[in-house]
Amino acid sequence: MADKGGIDRGLRDMVARMEASMAGAGDPLSELPPGAPSVGVPEMLRMLEADLADEIKAVATYDAHIESSPDPTVKSVLGHIRDEEMQHAEELRRLIASLQSGEAL
Ligand SMILES: [Fe+2]
Repeated sequence: MADKGGIDRGLRDMVARMEASMAGAGDPLSELPPGAPSVGVPEMLRMLEADLADEIKAVATYDAHIESSPDPTVKSVLGHIRDEEMQHAEELRRLIASLQSGEAL
């Protein structure tokens, strides 16, 4: 298992890869349905921030598992899953920013 410094470096690298992978992607916010939310914006933001933290933790976990395996197939499949989790994290980050600016809901 990586030490704390290794995890921090890994997270910084992950964020850089996440931002690069999402450059030019479609806008998931355009698919939000109209209407009032069932919870207020502050509560929704807390929920979404928890979701974002979970996605980032998943990315870090997959990265650690990729590093731990010598098998190229395992590395490839986990890398694909990790990349999808990075997209989820980016979608959540953008949604949070939108809610914070008053653009959504
Ligand atoms: Fe996810």
